[in-house]
Amino acid sequence: MIALGCDHGGFNLITAIKAYFDKEGIAYKDYGTYSEESVDYPVYAAKVANAVTSGECELGILCCGTGIGISMAANKFKGIRAAVVNNEFGAEMTRRHNHANILCMGGRVTTPENAIKYTKLFLSTPEEGGRHDKRVAMLTEIENGTFSF
Ligand code: RB5
Repeated sequence: MIALGCDHGGFNLITAIKAYFDKEGIAYKDYGTYSEESVDYPVYAAKVANAVTSGECELGILCCGTGIGISMAANKFKGIRAAVVNNEFGAEMTRRHNHANILCMGGRVTTPENAIKYTKLFLSTPEEGGRHDKRVAMLTEIENGTFSF
């Protein structure tokens, strides 16, 4: 199950991603917003972050105007690794190396066609583990205030 969320600036991308998921039979839960009326992106970041950290959804996708604000909000939640993606290489590598669990994109900087390309790559790429496990564990230590350097 994939958690979807957006503000008004990302509504166009989430609409396109939902159409793609419907066509492919990919299961998702849509946490809103549901129109282009102005809303506050932290609300939708919180809903999707909670869906992922609770285990209700394996991965999430969040869209705002740039992908930046909604990723900042999502990354405030423990256990969330939200990545803003603007290219195919990043969509793949953030799963492979950063073990990202939320893909963030911007409706004012990314076309719906590209957003679907990045979504496909994000969802089909596994976490690589190995040497990256140690680095991802360090992110968790930073989050918990136990990281020393
Ligand atoms: C909303 O106008 C805009 O600020 C928001 O969608 C996002 O781009 C914030 O980072």
